[in-house]
Amino acid sequence: MEGLNLEQDMTKLVRNNFSEDTNIVLYPGDCRNLLKQIPDNKIQLIVTSPPYNIGKKYEKKTKLELYLELQTAVIKECMRVLSPKGSICWEVGNYIKKGEIIPLDLVLYPVFKSLGLKLRNRIIWHFEHGLHCSKRLSGRYESILWFTKSDDYKFNVDPIRVPQKYPGKKYFKGPKKGQFSCNPLGKNPGDVWQIPNVKNNHVEKTIHPCQFPVELIERLVLSMTNKNDWVLDPFMGTGTSAVAALLHRRKSVGAEIMPEYIDIAKKRIKDTIRGQAKVRPMNKPIYAPSKNQSSKIIAQFSYPLYSDNKEHALV
Ligand SMILES: C[S@@+](CC[C@H](N)C(=O)[O-])C[C@H]1O[C@@H](n2cnc3c(N)ncnc32)[C@H](O)[C@@H]1O
Repeated sequence: MEGLNLEQDMTKLVRNNFSEDTNIVLYPGDCRNLLKQIPDNKIQLIVTSPPYNIGKKYEKKTKLELYLELQTAVIKECMRVLSPKGSICWEVGNYIKKGEIIPLDLVLYPVFKSLGLKLRNRIIWHFEHGLHCSKRLSGRYESILWFTKSDDYKFNVDPIRVPQKYPGKKYFKGPKKGQFSCNPLGKNPGDVWQIPNVKNNHVEKTIHPCQFPVELIERLVLSMTNKNDWVLDPFMGTGTSAVAALLHRRKSVGAEIMPEYIDIAKKRIKDTIRGQAKVRPMNKPIYAPSKNQSSKIIAQFSYPLYSDNKEHALV
């Protein structure tokens, strides 16, 4: 990062309060107090995963109305600090009330809309691991609502293109004969992203129960900001959005109320600056059991279609 002396003391490098002359701000406290320090229109990307009000260690479960009131106060301030060409990406799952699920993006959408923000995508983040439900299907996705402040917003898909299915495919007739029929840089990743969530054997796992994977945030940072832009996460947790921002030479600002997560965020920031961040690389293929393993499992559990064994025979 320009103007950054890696050998400087961390207390000089990572400021507690917002300041224009630094690159990293980690506010140890309520994000509403940090937001008050940030000038209007300063931030290019706001990306966060707020508390979901489901009674995690770091939150007190409250009535949905009160939760929405608190979220609205934060979102209003986010709107004020957001640059006219900027984006807000709000990542949420479900609030659960006596076994009934309430998708938080549904209830939060009107809040953003009432402030004049425009929804560009509802990105579905699909992952494989989580609680196994017995009275409903197990939840295997969360969503990211991507809003912009205006119609003139920064978006560059090139850095986040993914490999084409048939990369070398060419037109075989007509005026474009011989030219590539799809973009050789790769294709637009679409709005359903399959990215492993951070569970126990994930390289990024810390003690936090709901960490973002860095690669999820990297895609947003790379497509919605330029180098040296500010990326804000009001609910910073273990500093994942700071890691994603710093890896790509953006400035990072965020708040976190739990001291133990602040300590982890500081360590991750330090490791990133030193080039030692523990990160699952973007676009690394997702682990899939080998054909051998799968067929063994199928053989173990499948019943024969025709069998002499009456108990197990389907036909
Ligand atoms: C869902 S977690 C975010 C995790 C984060 N994305 C990560 O990758 O580590 C929400 C975080 O918000 C923090 N938090 C809750 N209320 C807060 C507030 N008013 N201001 C700042 N942080 C808050 C919680 O302690 C928790 O770590």
